[in-house]
Amino acid sequence: MPVSRDAQGQLLLGTLPLRQLVDDPRWATPFYAYDLEGIVASATTLDNAFGRAPHLVCLAVKANTAGPILEALSRLGLGADVVSGAELSVALRAGIPPERLVYSGVAKRDAEIDMAIGLGDRGILALQIESLEEISRVAARALAAGRTARVSVRINPSVKRELLSTHDHIATGHDEAKFGVPRDDVKEAVRRVREASALTLVGFNFHIGSQLTEVGGYRESAALLCQIAQDAIAGGCTSLEFLNTGGGFGIDYGSGCAASPADFAGVVISEFDRAKLSHLKMVVEPGRALVGAHGVVVARTVQTKVAGHCQWIMIDAGMNDLIRPALYQARHRIVSIDDPKGPAASWVVVGPVCESSDDFGAHELPANAPRAVAILDAGAYGFTMASQYNGRALPDELFISKGEVVSVLRGRTSAEWAASRFC
Ligand code: LLP
Repeated sequence: MPVSRDAQGQLLLGTLPLRQLVDDPRWATPFYAYDLEGIVASATTLDNAFGRAPHLVCLAVKANTAGPILEALSRLGLGADVVSGAELSVALRAGIPPERLVYSGVAKRDAEIDMAIGLGDRGILALQIESLEEISRVAARALAAGRTARVSVRINPSVKRELLSTHDHIATGHDEAKFGVPRDDVKEAVRRVREASALTLVGFNFHIGSQLTEVGGYRESAALLCQIAQDAIAGGCTSLEFLNTGGGFGIDYGSGCAASPADFAGVVISEFDRAKLSHLKMVVEPGRALVGAHGVVVARTVQTKVAGHCQWIMIDAGMNDLIRPALYQARHRIVSIDDPKGPAASWVVVGPVCESSDDFGAHELPANAPRAVAILDAGAYGFTMASQYNGRALPDELFISKGEVVSVLRGRTSAEWAASRFC
């Protein structure tokens, strides 16, 4: 349980009462707080679900780029999935070696491709190619560098939209998505990669979407990926090392999530078994499932407002700090950090940003408005999507271990923002 209440009703993150952070003058609200032990536990559970099968769990760094989190996961032996040269640098700096890094993205720049190819003795584990057109670009960069680029072909499995149990903005494995090589072009992609002397085909991959709450579309895609690998092997390809079935494992934001990360691992194991491909390494690249539940945004109530039948709690965190509700109509639970005793009322929780979408929804909170709240399940795609819209600060990030703040990443203040707007 990432957050819970102690006997006095105080909200705990791990074992730390969040009120301690709110009462500590060093930390201004809003801030992010993360439970490092919870993150390590989630990663360990998923890693163990693969048992003795050869596998690699790569954190999708886009979900959370914080050094203390990446370092903790690197120590566990995890890899990373990156989508930019900057994310690649962050992962390396956290100690994740090139052979545990995969690089996705539909429009990698030449300099980013060069960086990935040039690392270590043989570059990263794989550049994951997203189109026929990208094949010749990567081959040309590898030739120019006098290296061989290890590549994986990302398949777009054309999963039926209704099998992708998620929001349209984060569904990627269907026909109209810009991601991956369409099914019908996969044979041609394999031919082109194998023909290019500067490329080695080491894998196939997919990522069909994020916050999947059922395994249906994932299983269908895994079966297709195995079929494609079997065809390539039958066609004489001897260089395959892994199949990467992406991320997307959903979490419970409060309305349930039928499938657990271990269920997705189970699908991979059974599809590899069925296709007799268990000698290949199983790679997955979850983001949210590792970090989502273990981060919160802590915010103070600035004031309340009652007008007609509406009543709002206005907090000092806004859509610039956590954009998921505004962008995807996502619902994050919001709870009082103090004991919520006494009568409750339905409050609409909003931030200070000048947009009607700066609205975190209606929540049951103490009728006597709480002085501070925690927005739950904000560990993934929270800080990484934050902005300084309206000249607001970027929040601090506090990392908690064994009930204490063990490290802090300072955000960017509004004063720094204001100074940055002049030459
Ligand atoms: N692999 C690739 C190639 C991806 O594009 C993504 C996420 C992942 C792995 C990790 O997906 P996860 O396991 O975290 O679901 N900002 C959105 C989510 C965008 C996901 C983008 N790609 C949100 O806040 O829900």
